Amino acid sequence: MEGHIKITLLFCSFICNIFVTLQRINIKRQTTMKKIIIAIDGFSSCGKSTMAKALARNIGYLYFDSGAMYRAVALYCMQNGLIDGDSIDTDALRARLKDIHIAFKADPETRNSITYLNGTNVEHEIRSLEVSRYVSPVAALDFVREEMVEQQRELGKEKGIVMDGRDIGTTVFPEAEMKVFVTASAEVRAQRRYDELTARGDAPDYKEILENVQLRDHIDQTRETSPLKKADDALLLDNSNLTREQQMDWLIETYNKIVSEC
Ligand code: CDP
Repeated sequence: MEGHIKITLLFCSFICNIFVTLQRINIKRQTTMKKIIIAIDGFSSCGKSTMAKALARNIGYLYFDSGAMYRAVALYCMQNGLIDGDSIDTDALRARLKDIHIAFKADPETRNSITYLNGTNVEHEIRSLEVSRYVSPVAALDFVREEMVEQQRELGKEKGIVMDGRDIGTTVFPEAEMKVFVTASAEVRAQRRYDELTARGDAPDYKEILENVQLRDHIDQTRETSPLKKADDALLLDNSNLTREQQMDWLIETYNKIVSEC
């Protein structure tokens, strides 16, 4: 009986050793592997942020949501009376742009990235439909883009990042090693945003969301500075009919292939 227990313990310790060694090999592989920049661009509400966040977590990269920066600028305008109806006081915004400080910090529990505007956590507020209404006109202003792009390049100086947005592969990091352009039908995207807002306790109107998605598509694609378009060397990913798992498998496979060829 005693011998039996000894053999079992030996076997367990053998398995544990193999597990620890494999983990070490994996950590070493991750730290010695070349770090790259991953740019994920695409239409609004196509799940870019969720996908980019999960990819970054899987491969040990930092995640940055460039849309959150434009959302924070729009929120600043709303809070400081720089938006009146449909018009933005561009002179006042230009003069105050240097007073807008945006930072990202990781939530200690979830490890999710939290957006701070001038030291205040605005992660929840910037996702409201009201901010969504104003963000695209604010993001279409060339001086706003110039400032945001400069800050985004700073975030990518050390590489090892996943950044999502509209112009990451075309303007912010045209030299990014991995570029993905995500799309899905406007109806699928509106439904996803509807589900997201419902899950956080809001009572959204599907028609209003669909109109907002279509309007933002139009503004993003037709603006003069850095319009939304697929970079020539970006891989197209239509996720209308993909599960999150299928999408993640594809992303990891693509990442491994690109890194092994670097
Ligand atoms: O989450 P969703 O896809 O709806 O949008 P977002 O990524 O939070 O971005 C909000 C808005 O910011 C977009 O509709 C664009 O107008 C603008 N944006 C941009 O112009 N350039 C970026 N790199 C990211 C966002």
